[in-house]
Formats: sequence, C-alpha cells, structure tokens
Amino acid sequence: MRDSSSAAGGAVMRLAKLAALMLAGGMLVGSAQADDRNLYTTEELSAIARHLAPAAVVPGDATNKFADDRRAAALGQFLFFDTRFSANGKFSCHSCHQPAHGFTDARAVAKALAVGTRNTPTLLNAAYNHWFFWDGRADSMWAQVLQVIENPREFGGDRLAVAHTIYDDDALRRAYERLFGKLPDLSDSQRFPAHARPDAPTQSATAREWSAMSAADRDACNRIFSNVGKAIAAYERHLVNYDSPFDRYARALRSGDGPGQSLLSPAAKRGLKLFVGRGQCELCHSGPNFTDGQFHNVGLPVRAGTVLDTGREQGIRELKANPFNAAGRYSDQQHGPNAKRLEFLPAPDAMRGAFKTPTLRNVARTAPYLHDGRFATLRQVVQFYADGKAASRGKRVGEREGTLNLVPHFTPAEVMDLVAFLKTLDSTALPPALTRPPAQP
Ligand code: HEC
Ligand code: HEC
Repeated sequence: MRDSSSAAGGAVMRLAKLAALMLAGGMLVGSAQADDRNLYTTEELSAIARHLAPAAVVPGDATNKFADDRRAAALGQFLFFDTRFSANGKFSCHSCHQPAHGFTDARAVAKALAVGTRNTPTLLNAAYNHWFFWDGRADSMWAQVLQVIENPREFGGDRLAVAHTIYDDDALRRAYERLFGKLPDLSDSQRFPAHARPDAPTQSATAREWSAMSAADRDACNRIFSNVGKAIAAYERHLVNYDSPFDRYARALRSGDGPGQSLLSPAAKRGLKLFVGRGQCELCHSGPNFTDGQFHNVGLPVRAGTVLDTGREQGIRELKANPFNAAGRYSDQQHGPNAKRLEFLPAPDAMRGAFKTPTLRNVARTAPYLHDGRFATLRQVVQFYADGKAASRGKRVGEREGTLNLVPHFTPAEVMDLVAFLKTLDSTALPPALTRPPAQP
C-alpha cells in the first residue's frame, strides 16, 4: 500500500516537473499563452509603445544658451535650494518642489508667503513641456522661474534684491561671472537701489525705485534676472526619469520577453488596456509623458466659494505681454520657432477654463490632483471621468470640441483597474547628487 502510493506519488511529481519545464520553456520562447501581446489590439499595442521613453535626450531650448551648460546647471542647483531670493529668507524652490513628493508639496494649493490658488505640479520630466504653468503663461523654463521670485504669494522678492544677493556673495558672484560675464557695479546704491521691480503696486517704493533707474541699468538688471532663470532651468533639465514598472513592462511587451510581462498585476494590465483603448485617456494623455502638452477644459464645475479660474484664457494674455517671452529681448533666439508660435495662439476667450494636460508619470506621488488640488486621491479623479460629469456638461473649450464626450462610463471595478495602472507610472529615484543642495555654487 505504502509502496504503491509512493510510486504513484513519484509519477505525479515527475509529471508536475515536466509540466513546469514545459511552461518555463514556453515562457522563454514567448509561447502564445505567456505572451501579453494577445491581450491588446494592434492599435493598443502601438499606443503603449508610444508611451515609452523618447530616444533623444531632453529637447533643446534655443531661447536659453545655457540650457545644456553643466556649470550653469550646477549654479542652478545651488540656487534651487537657496532661500535668499525670498523676501523673508525662508523659501526656496525646494520648499514646494520636494523630491520625496515627486517634486511637489503634498498640498492642495501651494503656500509660501501666502496661500495660492493652484496645485503644485511635478518638475520630473517638465523639461519636455511646451508651455509652463497650468495656464501656460510662461513659454520657457527660465521665464517660469522669474515669475516665482516676484510673485507676492511665493517669494515676494524683486529683481534688484536678486542682483544684490549675487553681487554681495563672493562665491556666488564668481560662479555667476564665470558663466555670464562681469556684473555692473551694484555697490552704487544711487544707480542700483536695494529693492526695485516693475509691476509692483504703482505707489509702492519698489515700483518707484524701478522707474527712477536709467533704462540701461534696468536692462542690466533684467539681464541678471533672466540669467538666474536660465541657470535654474539648466538644472531642472536634469530632472528626468523614464524608469517605471510600466516602461519595463512595455519594453518586455515589445521584445516578447515573457518574464518581463509579469511586472504588472492583472488589474494594472486591465487598466492599461482601458487607458489606451476604450477609455480614450490617450486622446490627451499621450506620448512618453502622458500629455499632449495642450490645454483642455475637462468640464470641472466651479467650486462654491471660489471664483472662476479662466486658465489658459488669462495665460495667453499674460504670455503675450511678458517681456521675458521667447520673442523678447532676453531670449537667445528671438526669431526662432518658439517665438514664432506666439503669433499662432488661439483667441484667449476661446480657451476659457482650459488647463494644461498634466503628465501622469509619478502621479501616485503627486496628490492632491487637478489645477486646484480639489481631489485628494487618484480614485476620485478617475471617478470624476467615470461619472461622465465632464461629458454631461457637454461644452468644452478648446480646439478639440467634444473630445471628453468620448470618455465612456466605467464600472467601479474599471475605476480601480485604471488606478492600479496609474500607480505603475512611478519611476525610480533620481541620483541623490541631483536632489540635494551642492556645497557651493
Ligand atoms: C509656494 C510654492 C512654490 C514655490 C516656492 C515654487 N513653486 Fe514652482 N510651482 C508652484 C505652483 C503652485 C505652480 C503652478 C502655478 C500655476 O500654474 O499657476 C508651479 C509651477 C512650476 C513649474 C511649471 C511646471 C509645469 O509643468 O508647468 C516649474 C518649472 C516650477 N514651478 C519651478 C519652480 C522653481 C524653479 C522655483 C524656484 C525659483 C519654484 N518653482 C518655486 C509652487 C511653487
Ligand atoms: C480632453 C482631454 C483629456 C482626456 C480625454 C483625459 N484627460 Fe485627464 N486631464 C486632462 C486635463 C486638462 C487635466 C487637468 C484638468 C484641470 O486641472 O483642470 C487632467 C487631469 C488628470 C489627472 C490629474 C493629474 C494631476 O496631476 O493632477 C488624472 C489622474 C487624469 N487626468 C487621468 C485621466 C484618465 C485616467 C483619463 C481617461 C479615463 C483621462 N485623464 C482623460 C485632460 C484629459
């Protein structure tokens, strides 16, 4: 009895081993069963492949001669963590763009000197954006920086204080002059007051000091100011990462590598299929950064107690009026394609309520969500799409009228699948040397 049963047991074991071997062999050669390519349509597979990292490095920025200068990036990294450009000496870029939170601040809306109205976006892969801010009111990374420094709710600083900070600090001044050339004699307080900037309240001392300066000195200070932006932008261009479970899975799909295809859970795979297929998310969240870089009104209702944020409408007006835009005097390519596109912007009021499609990379780490941080969780965002609230409002503003009506309703299980997929877009950490302040500029 014992003998025969053990003999039978041995046979079962051998059979199981054989089956396991066959399975493993099948996986290695990419057998039909183990190949996830069967889960997706040809169109879905191409869409998935289009989300893979771009082959090229960060696209150039000809409006910033220093964009790819290593020394500029080093100076920029130092300044990114420097709190001296803020009026009370307490805030730096890092205060709101923290690596631990995917370069955001984990708040619904930003807060420095005062509470703002918008949610802090990630800086990871932001160098691939065509426009900056939710409303795209900056057309380069360097011009974006300048607005933070003089924003009364953020740094509350001014360009003269920035120039003096650099001039008065030997190490900073040397680093600056090595790159950008000699500073004017900023110790001359007749010519260069401690604080001055345009666009301050007309009667304020900073505005009066600014208008009292000579045109040439104002220009020199604008130049210093824009160079600071260019150095910080050179640093931000290194904050790039395309290594997430999704990317590893998508590469495995492309090459038919069986084991690589087990990197996503079944729920995440169903979510991915919905995302690139029936869910139509692809219409706007396309390409390597899961954004078309354009502006859409997704039909969010105006929340009680808040005023309508017109988004891109106001963004276009401010962009055109900004002396630091790509066509302006401080741009290093005033007649290039970036300057040219300013001539082809849509009429502002056609873009009322439209906001830039945010990247979805690292989205699990960048809660809360949307331009005003109204949703605390990814489930809530996807539920918003699922409810068809957007579709029921019907009218969207923007060039692709009606796109959102195509977003279908999702079952509760499908909502969870989409969320599971979005969580696979979390990339590995950047090299620590990039995420801490260097000892010196
Ligand atoms: C008080 C918090 C706060 C501080 C400090 C801050 N930011 Fe931001 N940042 C934000 C918010 C909020 C937005 C979006 C604002 C908007 O769209 O109107 C933003 C937008 C950006 C963007 C645009 C990203 C995109 O995809 O459009 C970049 C780049 C950026 N910040 C870099 C910086 C740099 C560099 C500094 C330091 C000079 C800085 N930020 C300081 C909160 C902050
Ligand atoms: C018509 C274009 C469009 C379509 C289609 C679309 N989105 Fe969006 N998505 C946007 C825009 C624009 C925003 C920002 C809206 C705002 O803040 O006002 C956004 C925001 C988000 C956010 C929040 C990200 C953040 O950092 O705040 C998530 C998550 C998201 N979308 C996921 C999806 C999913 C999943 C689908 C498919 C079911 C989808 N989107 C379909 C344009 C679109």
